[in-house]
Amino acid sequence: MEVTVNASAPPLTEHRPAQLPECFHAVPAPVPLPRTLAVGVIGPGRVGGALLAQIRTAQARLRRNQGLTLHLRGVATRQRMWLDCDDPELEARDGAQTWRPADLERFAEHVHENGRAALLVDCSASEEVASRYPSWLAAGIHVVTPNKLAGSGPLDRWRTIRAACASGARFRYETTVCAGLPVIQTLHDLLDTGDELIGIDGMFSGTLAWLCNRHDGQQPFSALLREAHALGYTEPDPRHDLSGIDVARKLVILAREAGRALSLGDVEVESLLPSALATVSSEDFPRRAQELDEPMTAWLARARAANGVLRHVGSLDRHGRACVRLAILPSNHPFAHTRSTDNVVQFRTQRYRDNPLLVQGPGAGPEVTAAGVFADVLRIAETLAVPS
Ligand SMILES: NC(=O)c1ccc[n+]([C@@H]2O[C@H](COP(=O)([O-])OP(=O)(O)OC[C@H]3O[C@@H](n4cnc5c(N)ncnc54)[C@H](OP(=O)(O)O)[C@@H]3O)[C@@H](O)[C@H]2O)c1
Repeated sequence: MEVTVNASAPPLTEHRPAQLPECFHAVPAPVPLPRTLAVGVIGPGRVGGALLAQIRTAQARLRRNQGLTLHLRGVATRQRMWLDCDDPELEARDGAQTWRPADLERFAEHVHENGRAALLVDCSASEEVASRYPSWLAAGIHVVTPNKLAGSGPLDRWRTIRAACASGARFRYETTVCAGLPVIQTLHDLLDTGDELIGIDGMFSGTLAWLCNRHDGQQPFSALLREAHALGYTEPDPRHDLSGIDVARKLVILAREAGRALSLGDVEVESLLPSALATVSSEDFPRRAQELDEPMTAWLARARAANGVLRHVGSLDRHGRACVRLAILPSNHPFAHTRSTDNVVQFRTQRYRDNPLLVQGPGAGPEVTAAGVFADVLRIAETLAVPS
C-alpha cells in the first residue's frame, strides 16, 4: 500500500507555539515551607541499609522540592550506635572510632534532643526494640517499622501503643504486611470512607507462593525448598515459612487495623510441617526435609484431581475469624495466576462485593521494603507543623 503524505501538513513532531487557554498557563510552583525531621535508624541490616541509601539519595531533592530536611541523627545496631552519622566530617573518619556501645534510651534522647520533631525507624526483628515503642510514642517520638512484633504481639502492648499516640506521635508499619505493597493503607482507606469489610484473603507469603507455583511434580518438594533457600527466598530456617506463623502475624495486624481484637493464638493455622519435623534441630532439618515430599505430593494429586491449583492462603472474615492453610483453588481463581514470589491480597467489601479489590506484587525484598518504610516516614513528615 502506498501512503501519500500531504506536504502542506506540518510534521507531527513540529513544534508549534503554545496557544493554551488561560487556565493552562504555568502556575508558579509554591515555595516549600521549611520543616525538619530528626531521624534515627535502628537496624542497618538489609532493609535498614537500603533505607539509609534511599534517604541519602533523596535528601537534597526533598529539601529543594518539599522544604523537608531529613536530619539523620543516628544509627544503632544490637551492640553499637553511631550518633550524628550524617556529619560529613565524622563520616569521613574511621567508623570504628566513632561507634559507641548501644544504648537505645540514650539513642532516642539524642534523636529527640531539645524536643525537636523526631522519628525512630526500627528495622530490626527485635522484641527488645518493639517493647520500647510505647515510651517513645508517649514522649512524642514518631515510630515507623517493618518489624511485625508490635503489631501482632500481645494485645495489651498493642493497646498501650495506640494509647501512647495520644501524645500526637504517629506509629506507621505499612511494610509489616506484604512489604512495599499498600495493604494496610488500602484497608484504612476503605474503612475510613465508610466501606464495610466482608473479608480479606491473600497469599501473604512470598516463599510459599514461589513453592506452590513451582510444585508441579517434576521435582520433589524438598528439592524446591532447597532451591528457594539457596535463592534467599526463605527464612534462615525455612520452617518459619512452612509453619504459617508469619502469615498468621500479618492477619493479626490486619484484623486489629479493622478493629478486631485478635491475638496470634486466635488464628487457626494449618502448618505444612509434619509434627516430627517441627521439633528437629535446625541442623537436622535439611537432612530430613524429604519427609515433606509425600504429603506435598498427595496435596498436588488432590489439586489435579479437582482441576485446581495449590495455594497457601490466609483469610480473615468480617467477624475477625482468621485462618492460614493450604487450599485447592479453581484454576480461574485470581490467585491461580500469580508469578514467582508475588503476594496478592483480595479485599471483599460492600463496595467491592462482586468484583473484589486486588493488591498484587512483590511482597518482600530489601529495596521495596525500604521504599515502603521511607514512604511511611514521608507521610509522617507531611503532618509536621511548619514553624511560624
Ligand atoms: N527483608 C525483607 O524483605 C523484609 C520484608 C518485610 C519486612 N521485613 C522486616 O524488616 C526487619 C528487618 O529485616 P532485614 O531483612 O533487614 O533483617 P537483617 O538484615 O537481619 O537486619 C536486622 C538488623 O537489626 C539489627 N538488630 C537486631 N537486634 C537489634 C537490637 N536489639 N537493637 C538494635 N539493632 C538490632 C541488626 O543488627 P546486628 O548487626 O547488631 O545484629 C541488623 O542490623 C525485620 O523485622 C523483617 O521481618 C523484612
